[in-house]
Amino acid sequence: MKRNATDFLALEMNEIREAGREWIHRTLEGASDTVCKVEGKNVVMLCSNNYLGLSNHPKMKEAAIEAVKTHGVGSGSVRAIAGNMDLHEKWEKRLAKFKEQEAGFITSSGFAANQGVIQQLAPTADDIILSDRLNHGSIIDGVRTTKAKRAVYEHCDMASLEAEISKLAKGDPRRVLVISDGVFSMDGDYAPLDEIYKICEPYSNAIIYIDDAHGDGVLGKNYSGKGLVDHFGLQGKVHIEMGTFSKSFGTMGGSIVGSKELVTWCRNKTRSYLLSGSHPPATAAASIKALDIIENEEPTLVKSLWDKISFFKERIIEMGYNHELTSASGTAIIPIIFGDPHKAKEASNLLYSEYNIFALPILFPMVPRGLDRIRVQMNAALSQEQLEEALRAFEELGNKLKIF
Ligand SMILES: Cc1ncc(COP(=O)(O)O)c(C=O)c1O
Repeated sequence: MKRNATDFLALEMNEIREAGREWIHRTLEGASDTVCKVEGKNVVMLCSNNYLGLSNHPKMKEAAIEAVKTHGVGSGSVRAIAGNMDLHEKWEKRLAKFKEQEAGFITSSGFAANQGVIQQLAPTADDIILSDRLNHGSIIDGVRTTKAKRAVYEHCDMASLEAEISKLAKGDPRRVLVISDGVFSMDGDYAPLDEIYKICEPYSNAIIYIDDAHGDGVLGKNYSGKGLVDHFGLQGKVHIEMGTFSKSFGTMGGSIVGSKELVTWCRNKTRSYLLSGSHPPATAAASIKALDIIENEEPTLVKSLWDKISFFKERIIEMGYNHELTSASGTAIIPIIFGDPHKAKEASNLLYSEYNIFALPILFPMVPRGLDRIRVQMNAALSQEQLEEALRAFEELGNKLKIF
């Protein structure tokens, strides 16, 4: 057969299929909500990032519709040229106020924020980067685009961070960038930010960068939803708080908050921002509304998420899904460990086909071998009835698959 330049596409896909790693995309035929229509079937959604139920919230939709009427559907350009709308500026100011920081900066996605900002923070071989072993792939990709010397420290292991930072700092680096997920997306545990701060404090050139994609809208003092920095009361001490609107806030868009200087610098240096069109006005307006809802209009929303997390997690552990990772999760991500890829897959298939529950499996290599799981993600909008229904399903499943 005559080979052509793109033969590798089919070959690589065969390899992926044979390894059982092809992503089969299920189709949502309607909104992402507590109950979603997935390929003709109504199922309770247990694996979306929509922690506060905002992605189909009536007030969010109203705000988006209003913005379409006044501002159209597209921005027409990148922010720096002709795509800087008043709604974008309002969005950044609203976010800064919510996060109690001087200024905010929005990028097209969280991925673009990590990739674009990390690339500029420590670009040269005179810089060093220290990154938690379980940091998100977008951080890893950002780090890969720099020439910085780098080390991976063990997951949330402060002795490991301390050892790596003191070793690398001996080379008298120009900048020391310490990066951690706030909340770790597979296990739902969170970084010991107070300790990271203490370790970094003696280094005058150490910059702390926290990716709070799964902490925003979830963590924070008195159920503020302001994230991990607020949880530890470290405002003004963590240099860069990164986040995304694609999870708790129900829309889309990466974010950076910090000093005015930081934001002005980001606006001028971040290539993934400068070279990419700005958000549609509807996204900006709905995002502003999300913060209004959390902070002012529905101040009990975050608390209601936590009530559901506690209820679900307690019951799931009690019934026998008592892996240490399940107990160690401290957020809306609740890993239910099956320990075997076939069992985790079978469990997910049964949940979907017999119990009308949508909860996809997460398997090796996305998680370590033997920690294959279903990652439940809680949603404040789930009703007590839906939670009970899900728990009944997990209990029957555990018995059927001889998990306990
Ligand atoms: C920890 C973390 N950081 C960054 C991102 C990227 O965010 P976005 O969906 O806005 O690109 C994600 C999303 O998967 C994430 O889990």
